[in-house]
Amino acid sequence: MTHRIVFLGPPGAGKGTQAVELARELGIPHLSTGDLLRAAAAARTPLGVEADGHIRAGRLVPDDLVLRILHERLEQPDARAGYLLDGFPRNLAQAEALGKFAAVDRVISFDIAPELLVRRLSDRRMCPKCHTVYNLSTLPPKVPDRCDRDGTVLEQRPDDRPEAVATRLKVYAEQTAPLLEYYRARHLLYPIDASGTPAEVAARLRSALH
Ligand code: AP5
Ligand code: MG
Repeated sequence: MTHRIVFLGPPGAGKGTQAVELARELGIPHLSTGDLLRAAAAARTPLGVEADGHIRAGRLVPDDLVLRILHERLEQPDARAGYLLDGFPRNLAQAEALGKFAAVDRVISFDIAPELLVRRLSDRRMCPKCHTVYNLSTLPPKVPDRCDRDGTVLEQRPDDRPEAVATRLKVYAEQTAPLLEYYRARHLLYPIDASGTPAEVAARLRSALH
């Protein structure tokens, strides 16, 4: 059975946290356009350099760049048996474009109160080497400021600073939230309550997929 899943939800809703486990369990690649764009920015490719300023400010990266990077990734052989799209599509133009080059079986939307998002984002830390995500209050590393896996000093994402977070939340409300109705009308939307512990969210996610 193929699994072609989209995770739709505001910044900090826990998409990435849930995606890592679920993708492993289903044996499909976890394709986060945020991760792909950050990797391109870190490698200083022309596309990455162009995307970097938008990411840091919390704005959407222009559609043509995002579509190019995702399209390339979807052509890799491991995406033939399915994929988990995390953070794509993010506006109507991207949803229309996706409909033309790849199928979607289910869209899981992460419902959560805005107060929880701000808290989760300000406490998030990430390992710059292996990209494991931590949270100072809900998922702290064993040794303060160090990655459990490789001991690297943890970093804060530049777009998790308050000004960029405010922009990201506004962009979500204006450009991404309309996709809820778009997919509901197509009978593809499966909302889950994204508050509570990661284990509670994981259990709701499994029931939404069965
Ligand atoms: P992207 O990387 O996709 O960021 P985002 O959508 O803003 O979402 P986040 O990654 O911040 O949150 P998440 O839901 O994954 O939460 P996480 O699991 O980490 O995009 C970044 C930027 O790239 C965009 O702003 C844009 O510039 C660009 N971009 C990307 N895609 C694009 C596109 N399609 N078009 C245009 N531009 C695009 O969890 C957050 C924190 O909470 C962590 O610390 C975690 O440990 C903790 N946590 C998770 N679950 C729980 C829980 N249940 N309880 C308590 N804590 C929890
Ligand atoms: Mg994420």
